[in-house]
Amino acid sequence: MSNIGSYEKRVKNFNWSISEKELGYKEGDDLNIGWYCSDRICQMGKANKPALIWEGLGGKKNSYTFNDVRLATNTISLFLKKIGVKNEDRVCLFLDKIPELYLGFIGILKIGAIAQPLFSAFGDESLHVRLENAETTVIITQRKHVAKVRKIKDKIPNLKHVIIVDHDGKKPLREGEMIFSLKEETPVEELEIFPTKAESPSVLHYTSGTTGQPKGVKHVHYSLIGQYLTAKWVLDLKDNDIYWCTADPGWVTGTSYGIIGPWSLGVTQCVLDTGFSAEAWYKFIEKQKVTVWYSAPTAIRSLMKAGDEVIKKHDLSSLRHLASVGEPLNSEAVIWSKKVFGKHFLDTYWQTETGAIMLTNFPGMKVKPGSMGKPFPGITAEVLDPKSFEPVEEPGKIGLIAFKPGWPSMMRTYWNNEDTYKAKFANDWYLSGDRASIDKEGYYWFVGRDDDVINTGGHLVSPFEVESALLEHEAVAESAVVAKPDEVNMEVVKAFVVIKPGFEPSEELELKIMNFIRKKLSPLAMPQETEYVDSLPKTRSGKIMRRLLHAKEWGEEIGDTSTLEDEE
Ligand code: PRX
Repeated sequence: MSNIGSYEKRVKNFNWSISEKELGYKEGDDLNIGWYCSDRICQMGKANKPALIWEGLGGKKNSYTFNDVRLATNTISLFLKKIGVKNEDRVCLFLDKIPELYLGFIGILKIGAIAQPLFSAFGDESLHVRLENAETTVIITQRKHVAKVRKIKDKIPNLKHVIIVDHDGKKPLREGEMIFSLKEETPVEELEIFPTKAESPSVLHYTSGTTGQPKGVKHVHYSLIGQYLTAKWVLDLKDNDIYWCTADPGWVTGTSYGIIGPWSLGVTQCVLDTGFSAEAWYKFIEKQKVTVWYSAPTAIRSLMKAGDEVIKKHDLSSLRHLASVGEPLNSEAVIWSKKVFGKHFLDTYWQTETGAIMLTNFPGMKVKPGSMGKPFPGITAEVLDPKSFEPVEEPGKIGLIAFKPGWPSMMRTYWNNEDTYKAKFANDWYLSGDRASIDKEGYYWFVGRDDDVINTGGHLVSPFEVESALLEHEAVAESAVVAKPDEVNMEVVKAFVVIKPGFEPSEELELKIMNFIRKKLSPLAMPQETEYVDSLPKTRSGKIMRRLLHAKEWGEEIGDTSTLEDEE
């Protein structure tokens, strides 16, 4: 029997108080996600249950019980407190998927500070803009990433401390740097947890838009109410599960469902901190006896590409529930997963801004391969007409995916950017920025984004960020960045570049430009193709028409461009 039982019944009788009651929370109480994910689970008698089973490169292993998590996070909290971190200070986690990332996240929350996880593959410029915007005071990192922090530290006056979690004590530290080693510290048994309330800020995740710098999505501790129940009903997590979320906590899936969801339910999760390989992944599932697996379409398509033979070499019979998020999950992938794993990958749709799953397929629900499923109980979703912002009445008609604000894990604002936040609403609807249609049975079908943001392998890339990096190179006069189709990643980044007089396009110049921007961007945002052009299509007011370039790449009809030229 699945945790959700009957979807229809749940929708009918739904109230978020179901989640509050299960968590023992009443309005006005203190609410600290850190406490819920560690101390409370120990108090419930699961202190000796494994919380985290970790495997890293070179066969490195580690595991932590819920009591270990409680102690380690207390220890991190106290360390941060001693160096002066106060509630609501932003503390950045710039780490690979090592245990300190998961433990540090909870440790930061326990003292009421705001966790700002950033993907460790970011280049120094990507790091810089995000730390500057958040006015981050502390960054927790590893030796291998500290060079990037050093490069930008002087440009961020608020950044007081750089904590290195794996320093061997050999190389000298620079001003502001300090060593923290969980192994060396005495575990802290008692910690005064900061009395955060429902609306106290908790997590700051950065996401890319079409224009402007990345936006810091501010979440609050009350998000737990949504993350707990969606993890329970959609991911169907049960007490004896071994759960594997393949997402990196530098992105929202890796925190909402790679830390908070499973741990608030007291569920064991495992983490593999090695690069992708089908063989390594199947081996991991077999070895850890993974039962619930939450992954992403690009990974699933890569597994498909690796073929079925490698699957036959492994015993994957432990798997009982599979789910996916982050990009369109094509029907072929859903059908393939049923064939090879005996289960469909169930598609779930949500965003950094929504904090938790919004549209989804549930265990037990009829699967329509290619559809994102239906709204989670308690979520009022619609597809709106793009002009009137009124719900589209006809089934199958395409419109904007929108949600009625008020669900617990909804973002509270964009950090230092209230105007952009306000622009996300129309007619009392939160506008997701995506397009979809709803069929007669209420299933949602994804169509595409309503902006120029590129979703490559589940990672949002702002064309603006890539164009800005390109423009900083001395040979680049103009650039436009669009998505280009790709078999595995669905979309990859393509750059159109106009070269300045005096420079000639050549392989050598291309290499120079790419090396130049590689330092600024994350590897995911790197163009997979660069085309040199004499000029770029522009509107009458001089704005580059990315849409025309995009249409060309996708072999779409461009139609009458005179209206486009008039666009602002
Ligand atoms: O365009 C949608 C796509 O990913 C965007 C959100 O990205 P991000 O904020 O990075 O969060 C990703 C993980 C929660 C959405 O606006 N997206 C997400 N899930 C799906 C999807 N596109 C199609 N199908 C999905 N299931």
